[in-house]
Amino acid sequence: MRGILLAGGSGTRLKPITTAVNKQLLPIYDKPLVYHPLTTLMLAGIREILLISSPSALPQFERLLGDGSQWGLQISYAAQEAPRGIPQAFLIGEAFIAGKPCCLALGDNVFYGAGLTQELQTAAALATGATVFAHQVTDPSAFGVVELDGSGRPVSIAEKPAEPRSNWAVTGLYFYDGDVCGIARDLQPSHRGELEISAVNEAYLKRGDLKVVRLQRGTSWLDTGTVQGLMEASELVRAVEHTQGLKIACPEEVAWRSGYITQDRLLALAEEYGNSYGAYLKQLGSTKW
Ligand code: TTP
Repeated sequence: MRGILLAGGSGTRLKPITTAVNKQLLPIYDKPLVYHPLTTLMLAGIREILLISSPSALPQFERLLGDGSQWGLQISYAAQEAPRGIPQAFLIGEAFIAGKPCCLALGDNVFYGAGLTQELQTAAALATGATVFAHQVTDPSAFGVVELDGSGRPVSIAEKPAEPRSNWAVTGLYFYDGDVCGIARDLQPSHRGELEISAVNEAYLKRGDLKVVRLQRGTSWLDTGTVQGLMEASELVRAVEHTQGLKIACPEEVAWRSGYITQDRLLALAEEYGNSYGAYLKQLGSTKW
């Protein structure tokens, strides 16, 4: 399966922090935010990735991530001239997707929790239909909200509803079959003037092809689009990393553990840093797990 990492947007809620810097390049404690959705894709087993961002931010992403080969990935890039909605990713990425199933990861979503890798790999094995992940939130009105029946099957989807029908928010990680580009092509802009990802999910819901995976309460999901979300994500990463001595969203580590790169390669990457990040990679590469 191929993955699209959507890392553009306006970053309105984070201004002035995002006036000159793309949101996804901001730090979450010790790493750039984009490492989170990138490693989420890697943990799902996805190694061919198209990163979409604004024309001004693309060179910075290219400097940070390169062609991905250092981590055993193939990363390519495409521009979104203006943020006209999340499903535009499927129009920009249509040739890359080439009619096959694909995964879309939003650049500002942070996931962390036990059992997540297995859930991701199951979703990535999808051949038909769509799989989305839902997480319980206290204020669902800022999100796409899915209503579920007693068996956990989706009943309705609404984007940023004034009166949410549940507190299950749809997170920014979506798995679709090869029909998604056709569905995206038929969308009309909403009253917000954007193409809405909830409309894509609703199309799959209507044809009885939408699976909703409810993330367990032990799994953290953070939308880093607000100053508070950004801070909370940094605090979570700092707390976990200090307690466990293991890093969250470290592409070198995920690549090595997933068998995308060898131990020698990991040690060579470690040498490039000359700081505590490099020391962490070095001790990983010198230990048998
Ligand atoms: P949002 O958080 O909905 O929007 P935003 O990033 O522009 O922020 P704000 O609402 O504060 O203005 O976007 C979710 C993610 O999708 C985020 O990672 C940016 C990305 N995105 C794009 O790359 N292009 C788009 O057209 C949209 C709408 C979002």
